[in-house]
Amino acid sequence: MFNRTTLPSSVKIVEVGPRDGLQNEKQLIPLEAKLQLVADLATAGVKWIETGSFVSPRWVPQMADSADLFANLLRHADVCYSALTPNLKGFEAALLADVDEVAIFGSASERFSQKNINCSIEESLRRFQPVLEQAKAKNVRVRAYVSCVLGCPYEGNIQPEQVAYVANTMLDMGCYEVSLGDTIGVGTPCKTAELLATLLNDIPADKLAVHFHDTYGQALANILVALQHGISVIDSSVAGLGGCPYAKGAAGNVATEDVVYMLNGMNIFTGIDLSSLATAGRKIMHQLGRVSQSKVAQAMGAL
Ligand code: HMG
Ligand code: MG
Repeated sequence: MFNRTTLPSSVKIVEVGPRDGLQNEKQLIPLEAKLQLVADLATAGVKWIETGSFVSPRWVPQMADSADLFANLLRHADVCYSALTPNLKGFEAALLADVDEVAIFGSASERFSQKNINCSIEESLRRFQPVLEQAKAKNVRVRAYVSCVLGCPYEGNIQPEQVAYVANTMLDMGCYEVSLGDTIGVGTPCKTAELLATLLNDIPADKLAVHFHDTYGQALANILVALQHGISVIDSSVAGLGGCPYAKGAAGNVATEDVVYMLNGMNIFTGIDLSSLATAGRKIMHQLGRVSQSKVAQAMGAL
């Protein structure tokens, strides 16, 4: 018998398509198309939109127009428009762009840390410290990501204790939530349960979010496990856009349409209108000249 008592009644969906989704695209995406995507997501009822990234334009050229994007947003008062900031330089640029919230991003894997942000795990944690201090002074909320929580493209297996160390350090610094990134989508349900059991020993469930890439088609199964562990914040990407440029072979995030369909079927509230969401996905996929990765969008004919 399926136990509903441990499931949350509502879920916060953090839409990462405009950032995690588009950062990996090689083709130039016009600012207008990005603005349209963010506007369409807000119209669909998405309340948390990771809109851009204040990183080196040499490392991730696709995010180089993030300041312009923020400057031209038609903001909904009840939507949080956030951005990635790897260091103080990124945080200062994000402040100038008037972002609502920022996210720092570290890794549980030493080699991925080097590839992605060009420094060791310890050095990255040192670099985040002044970001947290400035954010506190300016009253800006900071989210955190830990990448490679269920495996690394360079190191393979990652110990749950290593994830716990990085996540706890970020929470101790003042981040309000840690999003657990299965960057290359290798996690399976038992492994996810094992990781969460370790983390929940000393981290409350309401401080954790899950961020599954869907490379091996395991994301929804892993999300169900997370829900059963009391986690109620899920990152996803409309149309399943995305991938990390420094994680070879990584597919996009789990499609937001697929997550919303599953949650609707479980009577878990998201506030998102599935049909409008699928329209948002269809429009950006037309722009990119590809079909949606979302099974639900495909079934709905929103291609
Ligand atoms: P670095 O080269 O070590 O940095 O890069 P540096 O401090 O030595 O500076 C080098 C140059 O970069 C300088 O410019 C700086 O001004 C500039 P120059 O003097 O040579 O002209 N610079 C910056 N420019 C703009 N914005 C900044 C910034 N910082 C320095 N914030 C750095 C270090 C972190 C900057 C670089 O490695 C970088 O930008 N990496 C980006 C990595 C990235 O965005 N990856 C994708 C996002 S993470 C992800 O997708 C995973 C996630 O989804 C979760 C999951 O799935 O697991 C979050
Ligand atoms: Mg990601």
